[in-house]
Amino acid sequence: MNQFDLSNKVAIVTGASRGIGEAIAWAFVAAGANVVITGRSSERVDAAAAAINLIYPGRALPIAAHAGEPDSAKTIVDQAVTYYDRVDIAVNNAATNPHFGPLLEAGPSHWDKILDVNVKGYFYVCQAAAQQMIRQGQGGKLINVASIAGLEPGPMMGVYSVSKAAVIMLTKVLAVELGKDHIQVNAIAPGFVKTKFSAALWQNATLAKGLTDRTPAGRMADAKEITGAALYLASAASDFTTGAVLTVDGGYTLT
Ligand SMILES: NC(=O)c1ccc[n+]([C@@H]2O[C@H](COP(=O)([O-])OP(=O)(O)OC[C@H]3O[C@@H](n4cnc5c(N)ncnc54)[C@H](OP(=O)(O)O)[C@@H]3O)[C@@H](O)[C@H]2O)c1
Repeated sequence: MNQFDLSNKVAIVTGASRGIGEAIAWAFVAAGANVVITGRSSERVDAAAAAINLIYPGRALPIAAHAGEPDSAKTIVDQAVTYYDRVDIAVNNAATNPHFGPLLEAGPSHWDKILDVNVKGYFYVCQAAAQQMIRQGQGGKLINVASIAGLEPGPMMGVYSVSKAAVIMLTKVLAVELGKDHIQVNAIAPGFVKTKFSAALWQNATLAKGLTDRTPAGRMADAKEITGAALYLASAASDFTTGAVLTVDGGYTLT
């Protein structure tokens, strides 16, 4: 038996029109799953789904949805069930960081936006997906993409760091509460991954050098390098793993 096989599974991946989410969606489809992918821009998410469907016909459903809106999660789960009949895996990946600077300079709009999308949005997807998994009665997998910034303070990213620490505790609380329903809830804490989201870091030569010099692997990651952790946490291979935070950072947090 291939423990990493996702045949007949249905996975939701938020923020999957590019970057880490898109790479995870491709990895899940390659492992046999159907995927429901989201993003704010319908143009971008439609294009990402079309690229998957070109190689794997009918295996990706795009939904334009804003992760910070309370009703989005229910809509995404309802559409997943309408289109693919079930939900087995949900990956919270869509996140935002509109504030780069000292924490004392963060204003109410920064806090509201970051907590709405990164924390409350993650909770709403976990809630709607878990309720569907409980109705199905066959367990499931919730995966929250956190960050090493949730484990140690991210420089100039204070509100974001607080939000990612909250994601880690959300993961642990749900892992305890959903154990009896055979739903495993885990987090991934990526280090520095070269995507649009982290462009402010890697486009600044000084910052980029500081980060890669501190990383034992000596470089940033490609988004594809986060997919192994996601596949493990989405598959039967992780059936006795819950409440874990899987750090994928090239050793950065060890130094
Ligand atoms: N890159 C890194 O170094 C790094 C490190 C640690 C953790 N992470 C985490 O990894 C996750 C993915 O980051 P990434 O680097 O892959 O980012 P990215 O390349 O910028 O991709 C973000 C994706 O999320 C979508 N998105 C953004 N805001 C959204 C919202 N409010 N509602 C719905 N979709 C939204 C984007 O599409 P639209 O623009 O069309 O909405 C896009 O598909 C985030 O949780 C981030 O915190 C990243």
